[in-house]
Amino acid sequence: MSFEPRFSLASSRLSETRTDLWKVHSDALQRQAQGDDIIMMSVGDPDLRTIVRIIEHAVTSLYRGRTHYSPGMGELHLRQTIADIETRASGRLTSSDEIIIFPGATNAIFSVLTCLLDSDDELIVTEPAYVGYQGIFQAIGANIISVPANVDNGFTLDSDAIERVISSKTKVLLLNTPGNPAGNMIPADQLASLARLCLEKNIWLVCDEVYSMITFEQKHISARTAAKNLENIIVIDGLSKSHAMTGWRLGWAVAPVNVVEKLLNFTSATIFGCSQFIQDAAAFAMQNDGDYIQSITAKYKARRDYACERIRQINGLRCNKPQAGMFLMVDVSEISEDGQAFASSLLNEQGVSVLPGEGFGKITRNFVRLSLTHPTEDLQAAFDRIENFVNSNR
Ligand SMILES: Cc1ncc(COP(=O)(O)O)c(C=O)c1O
Repeated sequence: MSFEPRFSLASSRLSETRTDLWKVHSDALQRQAQGDDIIMMSVGDPDLRTIVRIIEHAVTSLYRGRTHYSPGMGELHLRQTIADIETRASGRLTSSDEIIIFPGATNAIFSVLTCLLDSDDELIVTEPAYVGYQGIFQAIGANIISVPANVDNGFTLDSDAIERVISSKTKVLLLNTPGNPAGNMIPADQLASLARLCLEKNIWLVCDEVYSMITFEQKHISARTAAKNLENIIVIDGLSKSHAMTGWRLGWAVAPVNVVEKLLNFTSATIFGCSQFIQDAAAFAMQNDGDYIQSITAKYKARRDYACERIRQINGLRCNKPQAGMFLMVDVSEISEDGQAFASSLLNEQGVSVLPGEGFGKITRNFVRLSLTHPTEDLQAAFDRIENFVNSNR
């Protein structure tokens, strides 16, 4: 007798995840492990370290015995901290009952979408979209309808195109502002009209705002600030990017109370509460971060300005100036067949790892995404290599 493994449809769908899109990145990691001099610009993990006083707070919390189970909704003092920030940002009284904590924004998005969608339902997402959504979509199995952004116009969203694809099966519109990969910000009036449209059509508006604290010229406008009514709005945020805390795994959703109640059932069945000491540190981080957010934003802005200027000076490359975040989308169509070809030759010839744009959607297949998670001095070396590569391939 032999055992024949049988798996769920979700796990089969997840096995279909395209690994080729990450090939340049995994090759780069392998070469780096072998001692090659590789500049990694393919992932969005901040080079900056979590600041010491947050670490100290977590350690103190551990010594205080904050090592037990935590409520499924999250620690009340953290939820209250987030609710107070939300109240100040949106001008709307937000209660801790509208906040639920997850181990990272990825888990929050997964839980929210699992809570809202069945496999027959449709979700509309704009393209280019964060590459991490793909696994979530595959696990859930819903039909995904992609609506391309205006690539030639600063990656702005086309609200009419979104409206045109809404059908009786559409249940969720997933937005991401500020956006990964393009660093575009959805203007308040567009967010407000999309929120209104969703309400009229009985659709949830889920807005991923994990780059909300890293904006340059303008302040972030949340879907909860822009929308007139909040009963169909769910906002996701977290500390990974803003506080250089990717490995701490801390995110949250701000949602109507009836949604939070449903989400609690999911968190109870899956994570059973996040770590107490991490939540303590997260609350401390958010209560004491004024200067820190300013300095981190200034750093990313200086890097963005430097990177855009270097691209402007390289004949054959083009980029749109991102308004937020830590990435730069570069159009490589004059140099290579597509972003994939550019990225693999750049790694082979110059040891710089960038992410092919196709991972974010077909419309960005002629782009590569560069992570600005390096100090400006290191960016200088990276752009010198990119310039050499372009000059010898033109
Ligand atoms: C748009 C977007 N959403 C969500 C995430 C995931 O964030 P977290 O580390 O909190 O899971 C990322 C990470 O790169 C992202 O870029």
